[in-house]
Amino acid sequence: MKQEHRGAFTSNFGVMMAVAGSAVGLGNVWRFPYMAGMNGGAAFLLLYLAMILMVGLPLILAEFSIGRASRRGAVGAFKVLAPGKRWYLIGYIAILAGFTIMGFYSVIAGWTIRFLSEAINNSFAGQSMSEITGSFNNFVDSGYKPMLLSIGFIAMCGAIVLSGVEKGIERYNKILMPVLIVILVFLCLNSLTLDGFGAGMEFLFKPDFSKITTQTVLDALGQVFFTLSIGMGVMITYSSYVTKKENMVRSKVIITLIDTSIAILAGIAIFPAVFTFGISPTQGPELVFVTLPNVFAQMAGGYFVAILFFILLTIAAITSAVSIIEMMVAFFIEEYRMTRRRAVITICSMIIGMSTLCALSQVSGSSIRVFGLNLFDLLDVVSSNYLLTFGGLTIALFTGWIFNKEKLFNVFTCGGRYTVWLFPVFLFIIRYISPIAVSLIFLSKLGLV
Ligand code: PHE
Repeated sequence: MKQEHRGAFTSNFGVMMAVAGSAVGLGNVWRFPYMAGMNGGAAFLLLYLAMILMVGLPLILAEFSIGRASRRGAVGAFKVLAPGKRWYLIGYIAILAGFTIMGFYSVIAGWTIRFLSEAINNSFAGQSMSEITGSFNNFVDSGYKPMLLSIGFIAMCGAIVLSGVEKGIERYNKILMPVLIVILVFLCLNSLTLDGFGAGMEFLFKPDFSKITTQTVLDALGQVFFTLSIGMGVMITYSSYVTKKENMVRSKVIITLIDTSIAILAGIAIFPAVFTFGISPTQGPELVFVTLPNVFAQMAGGYFVAILFFILLTIAAITSAVSIIEMMVAFFIEEYRMTRRRAVITICSMIIGMSTLCALSQVSGSSIRVFGLNLFDLLDVVSSNYLLTFGGLTIALFTGWIFNKEKLFNVFTCGGRYTVWLFPVFLFIIRYISPIAVSLIFLSKLGLV
C-alpha cells in the first residue's frame, strides 16, 4: 500500500549517513572527550564499550525492529504493534524528550554558529584566555544574541526537514557527514604534528582504574544513550523509512563503530592541542567554547583549523537536530493528519519558544529557574538522565516481552536471511541485561541505589 506523507530513504548509503548523522553530534565532539578525560581515560573507554554492547547496540536494534515492523513513528509504532494497549505512551515520552533536548541543544548549536563567525573574522587572534572567556560570557549574558542564533539554527534544520526524507534529510546527510569525517581526519592529522601529542594521547588512552566509581559507570551508560540517539524514538522513526531489505545487524554495528570512532577521533583532535598550549583539559562546555579558541589563537595555521573545527561542530549539531525534529514531525503527521509543512512550522515554533526560554535563563540574575536550576541546566539533566533512560528501559521491555517474537525474528533477520544465530543472544540481552542495567542507572540517578 502506498502511504501518503510517508517518505523513504532511497539508498543504503543514505540510511547509513542519516542514522550516523543523528548519532554523531555535540555528544561526540565535546562531551565524550571531556567525560573520558575526567573519568580515567581508557578505563572509561572500556566501560563505555561494555555499555555499548549491553545496552547501546541492543537498543538501536530494538528501535530499528520496531520501526521496520510497524512503518510508523514513535507513537504510531506502538499502536500498530500492541493495539489497544498503552505502550504508545512511550512515544509521548519520546516527544517530550525531543522538546527538552532541542531546547538546550539548539542554544549550544547557536553558540557554535557564533564561534564559527568569530573564527572567520579572525577575532580570536591576539586575545588572551581571559579576554576570550569574557567575550563568551558577555555573549551568553546578552540573552538575545544566543536566542537569535538558536532561532536561526532551528529554522535551518526546519528547512531541511521540510524538504522531506529523501530530498532533505537523506540528501543533506549524504553531503554533510562525509565532509564532517574529512574535516575530523584532517584535524587529527594536524594533531600528530603538535608537541603535546604524546601528553594528549596519554590523557585520553592511559587507563586509570582508580577513577572508576559507580558514578563513572552511570556516566558511561548515560553517554551511550545520548550519543547513539536512543531511548526517544528517533531510530524508530528513521528505520520506518527504510524500505530496502538490508542486513540490519551489520549496518547497526557499523553505525555504532562510526559513532564511537568519531568520539575517539574528536579526543585525538582536541587533547594534543590542549596540552601543547598548557591549558586545563578538564572543563566541560568551556573546553570547546573557551579553551579551544585560545588554543587556535596560538597555533600555527590556527585561523583555518578554527574555522574547520567550528564547521565540524555545526554540521554535527545540524544532522542530530534534524533527526529529533523529524521524529516529532512524523508524530504530528501521523497522529494529527497534518501536512509536513504545517507539522514543521508547528514544531519549530514550539522549539523556538523552549530554546528562547533556555537562552534567556542563562542571563545572569534571570528568574527563569526551576528547582533552583536555570532552565538550560534543568533540561539538560532531565532529558539525558531521566527521559532517555526511562524511554530506553520501556523500549527494551516492550521489545523483549511484548513484541510478537515471530515478527521480531523476521525484521531482525530480514526473513531468516541474515544473522539468525544472533537472534537468541539479542533476545536474551534485550530481555534481561539491558533492562537491568538501565534500571540500575535510572534508580541511582533518582538516588535510590
Ligand atoms: N546523538 C546526538 C549527539 O551525540 C544527540 C541526540 C540525542 C540526537 C538523542 C537525537 C536523539 O549529539
